[in-house]
Amino acid sequence: MRPILLKGNLVSLGILLREDLRQVWLWYNDREVRRYLAFPEEIFFYEDELEWYETLRREKRGEKVFSILENSSRSLVGLVGLHRIDYHNGHAELGYFLAREHWGHRYGSEAVKLALEYAFTWLNLRKVYARVYEPNLPSIRILEKNGFQLAGRWKRHQYVPGEGFVDVLLYERFRE
Ligand SMILES: CC(C)(COP(=O)(O)OP(=O)(O)OC[C@H]1O[C@@H](n2cnc3c(N)ncnc32)[C@H](O)[C@@H]1OP(=O)(O)O)[C@@H](O)C(=O)NCCC(=O)NCCS
Repeated sequence: MRPILLKGNLVSLGILLREDLRQVWLWYNDREVRRYLAFPEEIFFYEDELEWYETLRREKRGEKVFSILENSSRSLVGLVGLHRIDYHNGHAELGYFLAREHWGHRYGSEAVKLALEYAFTWLNLRKVYARVYEPNLPSIRILEKNGFQLAGRWKRHQYVPGEGFVDVLLYERFRE
């Protein structure tokens, strides 16, 4: 059991537990999950994961990371986070990933919707932004369905293994 912060129809956002970390570490090293994330080439050690968790717990003001829980089974399926939270300017950067076996059920879309609700209603932020690589069509779809608009692009900015340099799209969503 764990505290549920926001409940949706398909998934809910809960507190990330230390006991989730081994599972998250396995998913985070899956090259298909990493493909369109920052540092796709990187290998993450379990000890890195533990240190990251401790930092997250101690410096919770600047970053909120939620576990995404499937409502039907209550099991962990991925993570969604608000990073670089800037209370002075009222914005944060959104990031998310799901375990590969849970893709395609609209869990990503609902997790982003709930993370926006947390950002706007609970943290009182005014804007959330995201960086997405151009070939990541499911992720672009998730952002657009959640009201994000394309704000700009960095051309041939990110090297994706096997695909070469791709554009990075900058998306933003205001509270209104
Ligand atoms: C991106 C990710 C979170 C998507 O999660 P998901 O739960 O499978 O996504 P959803 O089912 O909520 O929505 C995907 C949408 O993209 C659409 N889609 C899927 N594949 C597509 C494709 N090849 N082309 C266009 N649209 C596509 C789906 O039809 C769906 O849209 P719809 O609801 O209008 O039908 C998941 O694939 C993931 O974790 N990827 C690895 C990490 C990552 O890339 N994170 C994002 C970094 S910006």
